[in-house]
Amino acid sequence: MSLLASLDKSHMLPEKYRDMSVEQLEARVKELKSEYGKRLFIPGHHYQKNEVIQFADATGDSLKLAQLSAANTEADFIVFCGVHFMAETADILGGDNQKVILPDMRAGCSMADMADIHQTARAWVKLQQIFGDTILPLTYVNSTAAIKAFVGANGGATVTSSNAEPMVEWAFSQKERILFLPDQHLGRNTAVNLGVPLDEMAVWNPVTDTLEYEGNPLNIKVILWKGHCSVHENFTVENIMNTRRYYPDMKIIVHPECRREVVELSDMAGSTSYIIDAIKNAESGTAWAIGTEMNLVNRLIENHPDKHIVSLNPHMCPCLTMNRIDLPHLVWSLENLESAEGHNIIKVSEEIAKDAKLALDRMLNRKL
Ligand code: 13P
Ligand code: SF4
Repeated sequence: MSLLASLDKSHMLPEKYRDMSVEQLEARVKELKSEYGKRLFIPGHHYQKNEVIQFADATGDSLKLAQLSAANTEADFIVFCGVHFMAETADILGGDNQKVILPDMRAGCSMADMADIHQTARAWVKLQQIFGDTILPLTYVNSTAAIKAFVGANGGATVTSSNAEPMVEWAFSQKERILFLPDQHLGRNTAVNLGVPLDEMAVWNPVTDTLEYEGNPLNIKVILWKGHCSVHENFTVENIMNTRRYYPDMKIIVHPECRREVVELSDMAGSTSYIIDAIKNAESGTAWAIGTEMNLVNRLIENHPDKHIVSLNPHMCPCLTMNRIDLPHLVWSLENLESAEGHNIIKVSEEIAKDAKLALDRMLNRKL
C-alpha cells in the first residue's frame, strides 16, 4: 500500500464541505446550534477567524477559556474553536459526561510541541542533580496535558499570560527557584517585571540537554525552557524602530510572548484580553501598533474605525494552526457530534488528567 493510501483519512475534511457555499455553511451552523441548544457549547479563542468566531458562545483569552471550561458543566458537547492544548484543558476540567471536540485535529501549537514529556523528565533529573529539591515547575497553559501532569505531580501550577506575575510570585513563596515551561519569553518577561535580574536566569536547552548559563549556577533563580511562539517571535526591534520613525505618536502594545528586547522597547505589554481592553478604552483618534496574532489585529482594526491601528510587523500572518479551524471544519464537527466513530474527540487519559488538573486547579483556585 502506498504511504498516501495508508494515511488515516478519518481526520480529513470530506470533500462535500469544500463544495458548500459560505451561505450554506453559515445556515447549517445556525440550524445545528438551534437544534442542540444548551447541549452544545462553542468557546472561541481571540485568534480564531471571523468566520468561526461569529458562532462562538463565548470568546476569551486562554485564562478565560479555561475558567469557562471549568464552569460549564451543562453542555454535552464542547466544540472548541482554538488549538489542541486548549481542548485538552477543557476535557481535563470538564465533566465525565462532556465530549470535547476539536474541529480540525491539525490545529496544534508549535510552542506546546517544543516541550515533550521525555525531554522534560530528562531535564528534571539533571536539574535535581545540580540544584537538589529547590525548584518548582510552572508551565504556561500552552503545553501538552502530559507536561501539565508532570508539573502538577511536582507541586507546580499552570500560568497564563494574564496571571503569570502572581503565579511566579506564588512559586517563589514555595521554592527557591522555578523551571518555566515552555515559553522562554513569557518566563523572562514575567521574571524581569518581578525584579529578577537577567543574570539570575538560565536557559534549559532540551535539544542538547544542557543548561545555558555563564557564572555560578547557584545564583540562578529562573530556568527558562528554550521554547517560543513562532508567531510572536516574528516581531523585532527593527519593527519597533520603524514604527517610532514613521509614526512617532503611535503607542506600541505587544503580547508578552514577544522577545525581551521587543517588550522592553514597547509602551505596553499584556495578554490578548489586556490588548483588547487597552484598545477599547483608548481615546478616539489615538494610534496603535499591535504586536500579536493577525486575526485579532484585523478584528481590532475593524471594530475601532475611530483609531489608527496597524500591525507592529507589516508582513505578519495569522497563526497557521489557529487558522486550521474554519467554517467547513466547524460544520463537519457539528454534523458529527453524535457519530459512532467519535469524530475528532479530545480525550486525555485519566492518569494524566488527574495530575494535570492539580496544576490547573492551583492556578484557577487562586482567583487572581
Ligand atoms: P493568551 O490567550 O493567554 O493571550 O495567549 C495567547 C496565545 O498565544 C494563545 O495561543
Ligand atoms: Fe501556539 Fe503561538 Fe499559535 Fe498561540 S499563537 S497557538 S502560542 S503558535
